[in-house]
Amino acid sequence: MKIGRVTLSDRASGGIYEDRSGPEIERVLRESFAEEIEFERVLLPDEEKQIETALKHLCTLGCDLVVTTGGTGPAARDVTPEATRAVLEKELPGFGEVMRAVSFAKVPTAILSRATAGVRGKTLIVNLPGNPRAIAECLPPLLPAIAEAIDHIAGFRPKLKL
Ligand code: MTE
Repeated sequence: MKIGRVTLSDRASGGIYEDRSGPEIERVLRESFAEEIEFERVLLPDEEKQIETALKHLCTLGCDLVVTTGGTGPAARDVTPEATRAVLEKELPGFGEVMRAVSFAKVPTAILSRATAGVRGKTLIVNLPGNPRAIAECLPPLLPAIAEAIDHIAGFRPKLKL
């Protein structure tokens, strides 16, 4: 299985702090899927056109899944959902809805994330919030639906370790 993991952060891409969110996505997915995973790793500032180009490129490379982290909030520089929607052919709003609902039980600020998801060609794209703790909270409940969606759009069902 080929997976793109994309960190969107002005500060991480500018070297102001280390990107801990991209590696956290990788950790959760490697621990969760029984499949061999090849990762494509991207770190970008919060620039809408650059994000769109990167997402399209990862789809062209044949990623089954692309997971983004960061840029989903209400601040002026947060443009990940806009860039994602611009490249999606079908939006799957349930991913964002569940993420916010599950996280809201733990952190009331979870409703500030505008994360979405959807399909471009044979690739499932899922936004996650930028905080590494948010990744550990948001990603695991989505995994059964991620496996099911990949089955529908790419024609194989990645096995979960559960
Ligand atoms: N979800 C979880 N599970 N844990 C969190 O700490 N942070 C929230 C929200 N969702 C958070 C969360 C906050 S404070 C914001 S602003 C939004 O995600 C958007 O974060 P982002 O802009 O880094 O994507």
